[in-house]
Amino acid sequence: MSESQEWCSKLNIWVTGAGSGIGAALVRLLVEEGHYVIISGRRREPLLTLQKAAPKRIRVLACDVGQDDSIAEAGATLREITDQLDMVIACAGTCEYDDGLTLDIKSYRRVFDANFFGVVNTLRESLPLLSNSRKPVFVAVSSLSSVVGFPRAEAYGASKAAVDYFMQALRADTANVCLRTVLVRPGFIDTPLTQENDFDMPFLMTAEQAAKRILIGLKSNASVIDFPKRLSWPLRLLGTLSPVWFNLIAPRMTRIRTLRKV
Ligand SMILES: NC(=O)c1ccc[n+]([C@@H]2O[C@H](COP(=O)([O-])OP(=O)(O)OC[C@H]3O[C@@H](n4cnc5c(N)ncnc54)[C@H](OP(=O)(O)O)[C@@H]3O)[C@@H](O)[C@H]2O)c1
Repeated sequence: MSESQEWCSKLNIWVTGAGSGIGAALVRLLVEEGHYVIISGRRREPLLTLQKAAPKRIRVLACDVGQDDSIAEAGATLREITDQLDMVIACAGTCEYDDGLTLDIKSYRRVFDANFFGVVNTLRESLPLLSNSRKPVFVAVSSLSSVVGFPRAEAYGASKAAVDYFMQALRADTANVCLRTVLVRPGFIDTPLTQENDFDMPFLMTAEQAAKRILIGLKSNASVIDFPKRLSWPLRLLGTLSPVWFNLIAPRMTRIRTLRKV
């Protein structure tokens, strides 16, 4: 069966980070196509609002993907709701910038709990259900910020780089079994996550545009979905020409002028 034929059948999908932004836009597209979607996020209210788009095809499962107790409880509920997941989209994420190189460990842990451990937890809880699908797909939403080191993004970018590596290792580890892994790396998307950013965001896209790009990639054989190309290509090139990035561009972007004295 081809990928597009596969999409003709109705899939059981779990989407985390579904209450707003990219996750919510993706859920709307998926239910429009007739799929059954379980939606997660910490706050129940936005999930209940989204459920109204297709009450018979959307189930709400509020949880914190970065908290051991919460995700374990969600996993148990998930197994009561269904015995099979065809696709899991780990989209939950948060961003905290490190202004002035504070190296505040609590902030770093919050970011890693949601962005990195959230992905690991989501896979662990869903893997037994994915293994009951004929063509299971595990998707993790990272970021183009993982391609090069951005000023103030020490925590956020590192958590997304960890996701990139995790997904590569997972792809290698599952090379002989039937699990498709997909790494999604968006550029700047207009969502609650970026609405407080006080810097220029080149090639800003809407959440709906981002969701459409992701869906097109999922329907193809892609294992990495980077977009928009007009941002991903220059960033990848800059990644290989790191002296240009670190000597010419980064000095104009960083806000740090002196190091704190002890
Ligand atoms: N916007 C961008 O420019 C951009 C670019 C690259 C990558 N991304 C990534 O895309 C993903 C979606 O972000 P977005 O831009 O759509 O932002 P968003 O609108 O803030 O969505 C993030 C969602 O994740 C949920 N969430 C956060 N922490 C969670 C946790 N610990 N457990 C469960 N749910 C949690 C939030 O809901 P609750 O607060 O209710 O939990 C929220 O609905 C994130 O992984 C983000 O890093 C975004």
